[in-house]
Order: sequence, then structure tokens, then C-alpha cells
Amino acid sequence: MLRVAQKLIESAYTSQSKLLARHGRSTRYHSFLSTHMPECSSFPNVKSHKELYDYSVQHPDNFWGTLASSRLEWIKPFSKVSNCNMNEGSIKWFEDGELNVSYNCVDRHANVTPSKVALIWEKDEPNQVEKITYKELLAKVCQIANVLKSQGVAKGDCVTIYMPVSPTAVAAMLACARIGAVHNVVFAGFSAEALAQRIQSASSETIITTDQAVRGGKIIPLKNVVDDAVKMCPTVKRVLVGTRTGNSVPWNDKDINLEEAMKHENDWCEPEAMNSEDWLFTLYTSGSTGKPKGIVHTQAGYLLYATVTSKFVFDIQEGDIFGCVADIGWITGHSYVVYGPLSNGTTSVLFESTPTYPDQGRYWDMVERIKLTQFYGAPTAIRLLLKYGDSWVKKYDRSSLRVLGSVGEPINHEAWEWYHNVVGNGKCPVVDTWWQTETGGIMITPRPSGPSDKIEPAMPMRPFFGVSPAILDDKHNELSGNDVSGACCIKSPWPGMARTIVGDHKRFFETYYKPFPGHYFSGDGCHRTASGYYQITGRMDDVINVSGHRLGTAEVEDVIDEHDAVAESAVIGCAHDIKGETPYAFVILKEGHTVDEKEFGEQVRRMIKEKISSFAVPEGILLTDGLPKTRSGKIMRRILRKIAVNDIDNLGDVSTLADPSVVDKLISLKRGAS
Ligand code: WTA
Repeated sequence: MLRVAQKLIESAYTSQSKLLARHGRSTRYHSFLSTHMPECSSFPNVKSHKELYDYSVQHPDNFWGTLASSRLEWIKPFSKVSNCNMNEGSIKWFEDGELNVSYNCVDRHANVTPSKVALIWEKDEPNQVEKITYKELLAKVCQIANVLKSQGVAKGDCVTIYMPVSPTAVAAMLACARIGAVHNVVFAGFSAEALAQRIQSASSETIITTDQAVRGGKIIPLKNVVDDAVKMCPTVKRVLVGTRTGNSVPWNDKDINLEEAMKHENDWCEPEAMNSEDWLFTLYTSGSTGKPKGIVHTQAGYLLYATVTSKFVFDIQEGDIFGCVADIGWITGHSYVVYGPLSNGTTSVLFESTPTYPDQGRYWDMVERIKLTQFYGAPTAIRLLLKYGDSWVKKYDRSSLRVLGSVGEPINHEAWEWYHNVVGNGKCPVVDTWWQTETGGIMITPRPSGPSDKIEPAMPMRPFFGVSPAILDDKHNELSGNDVSGACCIKSPWPGMARTIVGDHKRFFETYYKPFPGHYFSGDGCHRTASGYYQITGRMDDVINVSGHRLGTAEVEDVIDEHDAVAESAVIGCAHDIKGETPYAFVILKEGHTVDEKEFGEQVRRMIKEKISSFAVPEGILLTDGLPKTRSGKIMRRILRKIAVNDIDNLGDVSTLADPSVVDKLISLKRGAS
């Protein structure tokens, strides 16, 4: 079945080039659709981007079913496309089909183009590049898969991966997919406690890590962090330790040298036939309570969505070198470093360093050396780099770049213009892509779009194929027309959507499907402009975004509250020039407790670093004896947000507070502190 679909695509490509040669530029747009989406020929009356979008939302089963057959290789074809009930939060796609994700990402390319480079590892030190072909990647994936099997890891078991970005880390993810184990990647910047929490919540018996990590010229003792976490997790049975620096690190009974174990294994491992709805991975992300949520994605729907969004949003073509600089510990790394690019048979770059190491030209030096065709990064880095001026960019040749992408937080106009005009020389479309861990892939994005559709600066603008956004007011009414703002919801299912939260389907339903019945609620606010484009206005819940890292303010409050002297705390997100937002804490001490403020601040900061991560450490900590609360005891964080940035002329209505005088006290305390 797949071969037939591939033939169809190939012949469409060929006939398209002939058509182009004959008609030249006049057929350009039509040609875009048929070169990128030869499947269009099987959709009746679809001849323009708009018609294709309309078709995708009106006939989702035909649209996604056609793409699933042509873009993925199946072990057992599916007969049913979707089976979703958004009222109940029950989501299934291709439910009777079977495939293997690692086969789709590696084997099918290794079989045809074995020597094509799959991964380019841009290590921390510039000029230390390592390339790995599809054939080599296949061998590595199989060996790790065999190590896991020899260790007793079976289909459905959860494997926690705590590693910096590297070919071994990518192969470890794909090895899990190969044998049907569920991976649980934890960002290697999280502390031992945060790691332990995620290991326990996911009931993971196996950890894969490295001896150390190297970032920005510094060595990070990764294995020591894992050792501390394992002490808190008696259920962990084995720790596979890969080599990054080769320096000597402490060794325990449960530790196994990964490379040694791989040497004893065969470089072939039969891919497991997985049902479309078997779990592929869990990925923890912050919500509005202190407990992170283990978001679950399944096999086929997720893979299809990552495959198709990568291809169309970034206009991936044969020979491209795709550079997404996200860490594999976040969803962006999962979908646009690993699964999306590899499923398309593209060369994907693994960036181990930081935007400013060894200097502020690092990204663009890499673009010139590796000849990246796409660059996908976070606004926080762009904001940081633009402060250092244009010369760091201009001294490198960026002519290989075709598309620039932005993700993770809103991109402000200044950063967007600089990205577009300086980095892209005014020639590359900038795609501001809005999506979430829960959506699996890009949902709102300026591209793909029609040939004459312009990109407006600093907004994601248009829904992707098959995505129907809806803006709802607090009475659950969908707002029609333009120039409206409200809750950003999605009103029909798409294949990449999350299926559940590990161990807590009730929380899943209550967070995403209960607030606006029949809709997926993203937690973000949204404005539809007068021209009908989508602009994200920020979170509507107590989640903040620090340098593109999602953080629940309740997580930070829980840590502060553990301090002996603390009675209560409230943490809010405060606007920050570079990081976008940064936590700011208001703290009430227990009756009769006095502290040295400086020392107390240091203790609290250290606790947060140890229990969460350094990005969660508050910018400011203000001791107070009262917080603005409603009569029912709810903290009015809106008021705290204004006080934290000294925006006291716009406090809004404070009359509903139980004790309005708290506000004046806080303002004068804040004045004294700043
Ligand atoms: C925010 C990252 C504005 C948003 C892929 C969302 C954005 C949260 C954008 C998800 C954007 C992401 N414009 N805000 N282009 N992209 N966000 O799960 O608040 O780490 O809900 O996924 O980041 O963060 P997450």
C-alpha cells in the first residue's frame, strides 16, 4: 500500500516539474501544492491553499487518512481514521493500525539512502562536529534496543532518559520506540529532586544518562545528579551510563556502561509492531498546580503530525539541513529535532552548546559552517543576541538559510524585525509557531499559506491544516467575527493531540476538556485581529514562561513553603527584557519568626535550584505580612503582577479585596526593596 502511495508522490513530482517547465511561473502556486502535497489530486476541487485548508477541516478523516497512508509506512494498515469524543476527552486515531515509529524514522531511509547524514552533532566546542548517517543511526538504535531487551526492558515499560542532546540520546529515544518501551525524557537541567519526581510518577525502572555533560565550556556532573535521584527512587533497577567526557565518575551497583553493553549486542533488532494508540512517550510539563503533568503521546497520530508539520511549515526539501536548537528535554526537541525531521528523511542538527559560547556569533558561525537551511529557535535567545549588535551576525554567511522559526513564547516586534532583517537579510520567512507539549506539533503558524499571503510580524497568524481554533468568552460562547479576544481553544481533533496524563486521566479531562465543553482548552488567551489572524496574548492560568521554559508558579510556591520560617507565599511572573518572564515571590513569615533577609533570600534561592532548576529561581523575593486576597481567600495575583513591576497606576479594582489596605503596604515595601 505504501509503495503505491510513494509511487503516486514520485510521479506527481515528475509531472509537476514537466508542468512547471511548460507553464513557467504562472503555475507556481498550484505547483507548490502539488510538489508538496501530491495527495491533493485525490481531494476533489482542491486547487488553492485556502481550498486545501477548508477541505482539511471539513473532511478531516479523508485528509488525515490520506496523509497517514502516503507519509507513513504501516505494518498493518488502519481501517478507521479517527474516533474522538472531545466532550469526554477520549481521543483515538488510526486505532486498528500498526506501525513502528523507529522504522519510519530510520529504517525506511537507511534502506534507500544509507549514507545520507541523519544527524549532525554540533558539539559544545565549535568545529567539533560529528556526522552520523542513517545506516549508522540504525545500527546504534538497534544496539541500544538490544541492550534494553537484554536488561529485561519490555514493551510498555517506561525508560527515563536524562541526557544532553547527542546522537546517543536520539538513538536511545528511538531504541525505546523500536521495542515499544515508553520514553520519558527529562531535561538535563532539572535537579535531582525534579528528576526523582518524574521517575517515580512515571513508574520508571530504567534510566539512561551520561557520565557528564558539557555546555558553554562547563562540565556538568550529570551522573551525580542521577545518583542523588536514584537514592530517592528505590524502584529504579538499572542506570545505563553513556560516555560524554570519559572522566571518572562514581559507580554504583545498578550502573551499566552503555557503550560496553552495546559492544556485545547485534546491530539489528526487529522493530516491534505497535498499535497506533500504544504510548510512545510521556513528557512532564508544568501546570497550574505544584505537580508537573506527565503528558502522554501515542504512536501514529503523533508521528504523522510531527512529520507533516515539519515538512510544510519549514518547507523541507531534499538536501536540507534542518537546525532546531531546542534541547531534546522539551517537546520542541522531540517533534522538531528528532521525530519530524527524521521521519521526513532529513538531516537534523543536534546543538549541544549555548547561543553565546564561545561568543555571541555561535549560532551564525554554525549556520555558515554547516549550511543550515532552516533555523528554529526561541525568542529569548533572539532578544539576548540582538542586544550585542548586528556585527556578530553579519560576519558570517547566512545565505544557506531559507526559513527562520520561533517557538515557545510570544516574539516581540523588535526581536521579530531583527530576526527577519538582520539574521535573514529580509529574505527568509519568519514563522512564529504557536503550539504546546499537549498539541504534539505546531498548531498556528504563518506558513504554509497561499503564494500571495503575506506574513505579519510577531504573530502566528494562521491555523495549520486540520486545525480549527475557536475563541471563547467566559460564558463558553464562541466569539465570531474579527477583533475579538478570549480563551484559545481548538474545536475539532487533530492527530497530534495528547491522549492523557500519566496516572491521572481525571486531571487531563478537567484541565483541557471540562473548562469549555466540546473543546480543547489550551490555557492561553488569544486575539483574532481585524484581519482575522491569530495572536496569542499569554497564559490565562498560573503558568509562566521563563526563557521559553514552562513553569507553574505553584511549583515554586511549594518549595518556598517548605522553608521553616515561611507561612505562605505567592509567586507571579514578571516581565523581563530577555527571559520574557521571570518569577517574583511574595513571602509571609510565620508568626514570631524573624530572618536576615539576605540570608533568607539565599536559602530560598538555593532550595529552588535544588528542588526544581536554576531557571525557576525568583528574580526578587519580597517579605510582607499580607497578600491581596478576595473575601473567599483567593490571592489576587493580577495585583501582585502590577506591584512587582511598579505599575501601580493600573491596579484595577481593589474593592473586592478582604483587606484593601494590604495593597498600599505592599507598594511601599516594594518601593523600599527596589
Ligand atoms: C507558549 C512549547 C506565544 C504558550 C512548544 C503555550 C507561545 C506554551 C508560542 C507551551 C508562540 C508557545 N507565541 N506563546 N509562538 N509558542 N507559547 O508546552 O503559552 O513548553 O501554552 O510547548 O508556550 O509551552 P510548551
